[in-house]
Amino acid sequence: MELPFAESYKMKMVESIRRSTREEREEWIQTAKYNLFNLKSNQVFIDLLTDSGTGAMSDKQWAAMMEGDESYAGASSYYKMKAAIKDILGFDYFLPTHQGRAAENVLFSVMIKEGDLVPGNAHFDTTKGHIEFRKAHAIDCTINEAYDTTTEHPFKGNVDMEKLEYVLKSNPTKRIPLIIITATCNTSGGQPVSMENMRAVYEMAQKNNIPVFVDSARFAENAYFIKIREKGYQDKTIREIVTEMFQYADGMAMSSKKDAIVNMGGFLAFNNEDLFKQASVYNIMYEGYITYGGMSGRDMNALAQGLYEGTEFNYLETRIKQVEHLGEKLNAYGIPTQKPYGGHAIFVDAKRFFPNLPKEQFIAQTLAIELYLESGVRGVEIGALLADRDPETRENRYPELELLRLTIPRRVYTNDHMDYVAAGMKNVFDRRYDITKGLKIVREAMIMRHFTVELERV
Ligand code: F0G
Repeated sequence: MELPFAESYKMKMVESIRRSTREEREEWIQTAKYNLFNLKSNQVFIDLLTDSGTGAMSDKQWAAMMEGDESYAGASSYYKMKAAIKDILGFDYFLPTHQGRAAENVLFSVMIKEGDLVPGNAHFDTTKGHIEFRKAHAIDCTINEAYDTTTEHPFKGNVDMEKLEYVLKSNPTKRIPLIIITATCNTSGGQPVSMENMRAVYEMAQKNNIPVFVDSARFAENAYFIKIREKGYQDKTIREIVTEMFQYADGMAMSSKKDAIVNMGGFLAFNNEDLFKQASVYNIMYEGYITYGGMSGRDMNALAQGLYEGTEFNYLETRIKQVEHLGEKLNAYGIPTQKPYGGHAIFVDAKRFFPNLPKEQFIAQTLAIELYLESGVRGVEIGALLADRDPETRENRYPELELLRLTIPRRVYTNDHMDYVAAGMKNVFDRRYDITKGLKIVREAMIMRHFTVELERV
């Protein structure tokens, strides 16, 4: 018989997790004010809150940590990271930062000023937060297909070239300091951007003299999808695809907590020495000296090793197939999800799950709470809570999609865990018409409210 697919690694260390009872969870979620971020991790059985910093490092990464050089300036770990970035991503200059949003903060301190416009494909919330904090605007130019979970499109992270052209034509170039491509696009469901699209954006940007930066948190997963789905890339290696992707960019901001498979870390990388020098000033102010920028030497070592492991085909295939496995299970139960399945998560379409709940009652958050109560599984809302209020009108923003993201940490859970998650979702789905009320906000922060919001049942 044909040999089945199997993971490309085995386990060397394990961590116990505990199943709780529904009664315990009822109590815990009330104390947590219906905000899953407020739960203690031991109140969660399977944690699909995020794939950020939650991955399992390899034996080689742990070994690399032992060789970390903790010198304040000029550490060998910095040069190891610099060499890995040059080798895999192709950039000559880089600045370490403590995580992705810190890289955004440093970059935008140089590039963005009040009133600017930053077009892109559905910016991630911290990216948007840092843009709006500077009284500038993030303009979403994602293709419309991204917002219809029922249409199959291989690259739902793509920029709509007409939307982008319109933004560039109808505004003075000096108000558009950069274009940001998020690959994969978290907000639209971990959906990839095609090579053709990256090339087209870069060409249009070059004609207008506007730099392109890639928000690269999941660049390797993006490259995997290009290999699997885009014509002409089947025979290329992931590293070859990655090299080409970054030819269509002037720089990148990286949250290394995703595709570099480390628990903490980030960086900026550029081609332009002048920009690097300007950003260095802010890096020193906000993050740390240029050769460590908020990271310890050992963490830079693990990151450098992680960049190599994260761009291996066998690893990526194992990872994406696990995400697919969960998607297929949910699909078999009739549960509506974003399709095709994303790279790092399955995004359940909460509006189609609960067609009778009004958007004002935070549909995706309601689903997240129900799944937790049912099974002890923690997902995360990608919907109206995350979308925040409009910074000018202070009205709630209701995004087109209300999603429950079931985010899969790298190299952490087995497919039995995925089957458990799917069964929990099915049980909630079976009683979906009994759930007639959602949630309301009791207290919220001015910006990025979803982390700390307090809610109660309507
Ligand atoms: N860009 C993207 C596309 C992200 O998904 C994230 C983080 C960041 C930037 C910011 O990076 O967390 O290292 O500061 N995403 C996490 C998530 C939080 O759960 O999706 P960070």
